[in-house]
Amino acid sequence: MNVIVTGSCGQLGIDVCAALRANGHCVIELDLPRTDITDAGQVLSLFEQNRPDAVIHCAAFTSVDRAETDPETCARVNVDGTRNIAQATERYGAKLIYISSDYVYGGTGSEPLTESVEPHPVNVYGRTKLEGEEEAKRCSRLFIVRTSWVFGLHGSNFVKTMLHLSESMDVLRVVCDQIGSPTFTEDLARLLCTMIESDRYGVYNVSNEGFCSWHEFAEEILRTAGRKVCVWPVTSSEYASAACRPLNSRMSKQKLEDAGFARLPHWKDALVRCLRRL
Ligand SMILES: NC(=O)c1ccc[n+]([C@@H]2O[C@H](COP(=O)([O-])OP(=O)(O)OC[C@H]3O[C@@H](n4cnc5c(N)ncnc54)[C@H](OP(=O)(O)O)[C@@H]3O)[C@@H](O)[C@H]2O)c1
Repeated sequence: MNVIVTGSCGQLGIDVCAALRANGHCVIELDLPRTDITDAGQVLSLFEQNRPDAVIHCAAFTSVDRAETDPETCARVNVDGTRNIAQATERYGAKLIYISSDYVYGGTGSEPLTESVEPHPVNVYGRTKLEGEEEAKRCSRLFIVRTSWVFGLHGSNFVKTMLHLSESMDVLRVVCDQIGSPTFTEDLARLLCTMIESDRYGVYNVSNEGFCSWHEFAEEILRTAGRKVCVWPVTSSEYASAACRPLNSRMSKQKLEDAGFARLPHWKDALVRCLRRL
């Protein structure tokens, strides 16, 4: 298949491109500065040149805190940009995977969230990702993949931040009351590849297996990497940040399994594989 990958230079996009090529697909990369998804004309001309069979839409404004002070830019990319991608995808009769987020959920309670839970985002980024889902629905052959706590070899992420801070600090303060699941880009990318080859359309939660807090995640990163650093637990209210974040990001992956897709490995297994390569 001819597959356009948006955000192809981002931490997920790079691994999605690699996974698609490994499966024999022809990949067309779309990212800044060459193509801007907020420019409908640029998007259409790329689609016209390449006639895609499928699109994996990873491009997004992903800075959750910066979104609070610059909601206009965040909405332009995540909502208007997604509209441009969805319209072009539908026009060429292609399939679309829209990468969404656990932050579309309100994150109350402590039960794993199913895809049918009513979304109630608590920050600007989450609201724009949810509005992006609505825009993506212009596409008739659509997968919406809600993922969480993404880490990998490329770009910046929590794993790299913890390793970096541990070089200069003896004590790290990390939030202990937000619970969710880390997701390794390489595992997610392989699943997205399998998904786009299928026609089992729908909304799916996708993350590595197992739940933890950011504090437990940090402890495991530093223990596995052999760093002797004290990781001090703090609550969300003690940790100042511009954006409010949901406490419950536990996502049920039952629907993914019921649709015949394999669940991803446990996050600790994914972390070991990532750290070996970093
Ligand atoms: N990171 C997480 O923890 C997380 C969690 C849940 C869901 N997600 C979702 O997963 C997807 C991939 O995230 P990621 O972590 O790979 O993000 P990322 O590393 O920030 O990559 C996003 C890519 O999109 C590009 N981009 C931004 N604005 C664009 C525009 N107007 N036109 C074209 N490209 C543009 C970025 O380019 P620049 O770098 O030049 O801006 C970057 O290369 C996103 O949809 C995100 O919302 C991420």
